[in-house]
Amino acid sequence: MKKIIVAPSILSADFNHLEREIKAVEVAGAEWLHFDVMDGHFVPNISFGIPVLKSIAHSHKMVNDVHIMIADPLKYAPEFIKSGAEYLTFHYEACKDDKEVEAVIDLIHELGGKAGLSIKPKTPVEVVDKFLAKLDLLLVMSVEPGFGGQSFISGALDKISYLRKAIDAKGYKCLVEVDGGINNETGKLCKDAGVDVLVAGSYLFGHEDLKKRIEGLKK
Ligand code: DX5
Ligand code: ZN
Repeated sequence: MKKIIVAPSILSADFNHLEREIKAVEVAGAEWLHFDVMDGHFVPNISFGIPVLKSIAHSHKMVNDVHIMIADPLKYAPEFIKSGAEYLTFHYEACKDDKEVEAVIDLIHELGGKAGLSIKPKTPVEVVDKFLAKLDLLLVMSVEPGFGGQSFISGALDKISYLRKAIDAKGYKCLVEVDGGINNETGKLCKDAGVDVLVAGSYLFGHEDLKKRIEGLKK
């Protein structure tokens, strides 16, 4: 039985009590911590960046799963790796061409990070075929990036099963992650489609039964 990784997205956390919120998801069984960086250019929202990552990256034992929804990932990738990103996931749509996508993947690897690539809901999944051999993670967005608390876009399911087949057929190491509108129901659909990592923000933070919710997503 495959072990599903749960990655709570701190974008939905109470930032007035960030240390307590991170502890709570760690104690409740989360293995990864999803860190949503938004720059107000690539997405129409601004969240947080390097100073916050620096201060929390080593304050817990979970894997730092950093999702940069920013323009010019090539320029900023080194800072995020140096600040504690273990997985650093950038957007296909933020790169001017495939050459730049390759360059960002190679740079993340040179700096000792694990490279993730993310595609928005309207981006066809086939565009990532050529990168799967090199990638450590492929993040399928099941909402338009920029905000927590949105509803799941079911087109993500076909992309997940497409990737599952492609990765298994070639024996690649690339993990498949889904992000946006994940709860018990949508999480189950994604697991049935072959996902490895579930990101959840509003379904987890701010709820008393956090442990039960995380265990439910893992089942
Ligand atoms: C959206 C972010 C997601 C979001 C998930 O741009 O990448 O990680 O925080 O939040 P929920 O789970 O509430 O949709
Ligand atoms: Zn995210």
